[in-house]
Amino acid sequence: MTSSTSLGSQLRHVAESLAREAGDMALLGRKSGPLSATTKSSPIDMVTKFDKASEAMITEGLAKLRPDDAIIGEEGAAKHGTSGITWHIDPIDGTTNFVFDLPMWAVSIGAVDEHGPLAGAVYVPALGEMFSGARTEGASLNGSPISVRDNNDLADALVCTGYSYLISEREVHAKRVADIVMKVRDLRRFGAAAVDICFVACGRLDAYFEEHLHSWDLIAGQVIATEAGAVFSDYVGNPVTPSQVIASTPGVHADLIQLIAASGPDAS
Ligand code: IPD
Ligand code: CA
Ligand code: CA
Repeated sequence: MTSSTSLGSQLRHVAESLAREAGDMALLGRKSGPLSATTKSSPIDMVTKFDKASEAMITEGLAKLRPDDAIIGEEGAAKHGTSGITWHIDPIDGTTNFVFDLPMWAVSIGAVDEHGPLAGAVYVPALGEMFSGARTEGASLNGSPISVRDNNDLADALVCTGYSYLISEREVHAKRVADIVMKVRDLRRFGAAAVDICFVACGRLDAYFEEHLHSWDLIAGQVIATEAGAVFSDYVGNPVTPSQVIASTPGVHADLIQLIAASGPDAS
């Protein structure tokens, strides 16, 4: 790496290489042995030995490559830093899919600086797909530039969502979804938030919305999809936070906010 390479580009490269290493380890491990699955926040929120091994591999890699950065990882990684960069790691996003041997799971690694998401990678090992991006430097899928689908009509939109592991939160969301499914082309639930957001980025979906996410579900996908032309907000049009996420092609964003406001429980 030359000194003229931007920080965003350097961090994108770090995220790509660690996501690939950890994702390939998990893909191989899944085929060869027991998953040792246990549960976390609820009886349906699973964690396997590969979630933990993936996070350990990524944090060890960061300790070597970016020793002064802070880290927040879903499986407990927590480290203070001095560089102003914080990494948000979901070592396996879509663990339920991973356990059931469905291909939609990913390793998601995103870096944030004082201005927000700076660089990230979302690697989907079972599909052989590496999404990555860096702020102001574009987004790519397996090295080719990606952009959102051009669509201004919510009725024509393919929309994706996801559900929390808590049944009380699912109940609220299910009421919203019951209204929304009648007003769009169709709804999908693939089971990995980072992948859903990257699918908006590359035009396979027009929009995605979900609530009660965490930073590790969002950051990498956010920089990738933003660079691909997607717009992010919460359910009422304020800046996105993990607790409420809309990511969409620009032409359907305002209408989706309105539809969410008119659907199910109050979203504000
Ligand atoms: C989950 C997935 C799922 C989403 C949940 C997330 P995990 O992450 O992204 O699609 O609906 O909200 O918690 O637990 O598989 O890392
Ligand atoms: Ca996740
Ligand atoms: Ca996870």
